[in-house]
Amino acid sequence: MSAVDPANQFLLQLIREAPNETLWWVDENILTLPSAIKGISAITNRYDLYQQLKQQHWPASFSDFDASHIQESSLSCVLLRLPKEKPLVHFLINQTAKLLQPGGKLYLIGDKSEGIRGFNKRAATRLGGSLEEKKISGGLWFGKITSNPAKAGEPLDDQNYTQLREVLDSIDTDDTAFQFISKPGIYGWQKIDPGSHFLIENLSEMLDQPLPLSGKVLDLGCGYGYLSLKTAGAETELTCTDNNAAALLCCEENLSANQLSGKVIASNAGDMITEKFDTILCNPPFHSGFATNSELTERFVSAAARCLKTNGQACFVVNKHIAIEQKAGRYFAKIRVHSENKHFKLIHLSQPKAI
Ligand SMILES: C[S@@+](CC[C@H](N)C(=O)[O-])C[C@H]1O[C@@H](n2cnc3c(N)ncnc32)[C@H](O)[C@@H]1O
Repeated sequence: MSAVDPANQFLLQLIREAPNETLWWVDENILTLPSAIKGISAITNRYDLYQQLKQQHWPASFSDFDASHIQESSLSCVLLRLPKEKPLVHFLINQTAKLLQPGGKLYLIGDKSEGIRGFNKRAATRLGGSLEEKKISGGLWFGKITSNPAKAGEPLDDQNYTQLREVLDSIDTDDTAFQFISKPGIYGWQKIDPGSHFLIENLSEMLDQPLPLSGKVLDLGCGYGYLSLKTAGAETELTCTDNNAAALLCCEENLSANQLSGKVIASNAGDMITEKFDTILCNPPFHSGFATNSELTERFVSAAARCLKTNGQACFVVNKHIAIEQKAGRYFAKIRVHSENKHFKLIHLSQPKAI
């Protein structure tokens, strides 16, 4: 997806034309943020976007799309570029139905391949009002839905989006199932990440240390906390960080359900982490929104170098096609591929360079 993505362009145009009392749900698919516009507020579940919104002076909040600070039936307009996850789209439409005043408008933007036309129809039923649909270009459509609370339909099935829940998963057939707390809104929320599982299987050998780990440990891009839950014990001084509000909520819950203490900190690729660690564990993202983003992976390597003690060790797991070793050369004096399987490789990084 390029910076001239037509969905993005169209959204920016709607933002410029939006009336007072507008709410913009901002998720990972926005590419360029405009300067704040009077009368429009924003809610995002991503810390990097929250930081950018704040820099541009937007009235913005960072949460798992919690709009409880906005009065019901108070908004004249709501803007949404379709997120990837269906339960989240349904949750946001249900929230919008409560927040819009009668006659208020919901604008949905999305591609046919993302199911925009179905979402438009369901949103119109939920909001009880009329739907105007228009093709923007290629497969891209938008829907303008007018709220009519007198005719509002039943809430759409959002799989209880806000509810934290227990999930059981196992990767190997002979594995005992692993139980954790998770929820929709986190990438791969219902499963153990196979790359992370591969890292855990090899970690003790990679670090030449028994588990649970001792000393200061950073779980960089922690998600719901899988790597921490598998490696931390009573003696571990643990810090977990992620960009995603839902991930942070679940990680906190998972630590306390497992009697682990640790700091859980919102950051953009570790930028809010100021301490140094003996061990850093990371399964970095290589997607941002719908796009692959190799610059993002590099920012995780650079953060690991900045946050690692001189004699510390960082262990990364990445998809085999990611050329992380070349990137790591700028940040670490010692780089070793510990092992590989069909899909993933484990990279051991040490002797961080001062940059
Ligand atoms: C491949 S997942 C690994 C999650 C977890 N460590 C595990 O093993 O299950 C990558 C994680 O990076 C997080 N992430 C994505 N972009 C980020 C950013 N800019 N800053 C911090 N974390 C980010 C995602 O929310 C996700 O939780």
